[in-house]
Amino acid sequence: MSQARLKIEVARAALRHVESGMLLGVGTGSTVNAFIDELAASGLRLEGAVSSSEATTSRLKEIGVKVMELNHCGDLELYIDGADEVDAHRRLIKGGGGALTREKIIAGASRKFVCIVDESKCRPILGEFPLPVEVIPMARAFVSRKLTGMGGRPQLREDFVTDNGNLILDVRNLDLINPVQVERDINQIPGVVTCGLFALRGADQVLVASESGIETR
Ligand code: A5P
Repeated sequence: MSQARLKIEVARAALRHVESGMLLGVGTGSTVNAFIDELAASGLRLEGAVSSSEATTSRLKEIGVKVMELNHCGDLELYIDGADEVDAHRRLIKGGGGALTREKIIAGASRKFVCIVDESKCRPILGEFPLPVEVIPMARAFVSRKLTGMGGRPQLREDFVTDNGNLILDVRNLDLINPVQVERDINQIPGVVTCGLFALRGADQVLVASESGIETR
């Protein structure tokens, strides 16, 4: 089965968690795009959605979903999003699409976070995928030096500005044996908006699509 097909299968499985009338948090990326397509085909009618990116907002509006400001909602019942890497403890690396900060805010504001991935995203230890770090532009060089001091190899994501007007440093070579501590350490560097580790608040459930079907972790 192709990776695109696996994304459709896991998107369809995620629909089982969604009910008409829900206020839903929606992530960003190609797996979430498949989820939005499946949502459109399902006939489910949401009360509305809180979106993690301008790209997702456009797609939700295209299918007739009302996109709401998080500031106008209470906590959300459910957040659906993909990930770049997932470990056995449902801790994640996210931000390959650059939407990590809004994704982390919505994950934090949601009672349940269901992460949808194909099996290529599963890892025994996080860190093969370069860790995205969103940085205030004036702090780029300073934060890079700090990350280098932690053993990382940061690289500026070329020609990319986040929806929040910031930059992304993609960091290779970090030791992520203890992702909770690394998430804390990076997020404390002045100028860092947030890093793409979702370890302090990981997913509550991970749906993994493979040739043999959908596994729930
Ligand atoms: C977006 O910033 C990311 O966090 C995505 O959730 C992640 O990159 C997964 O994207 P795909 O579903 O396209 O692999």
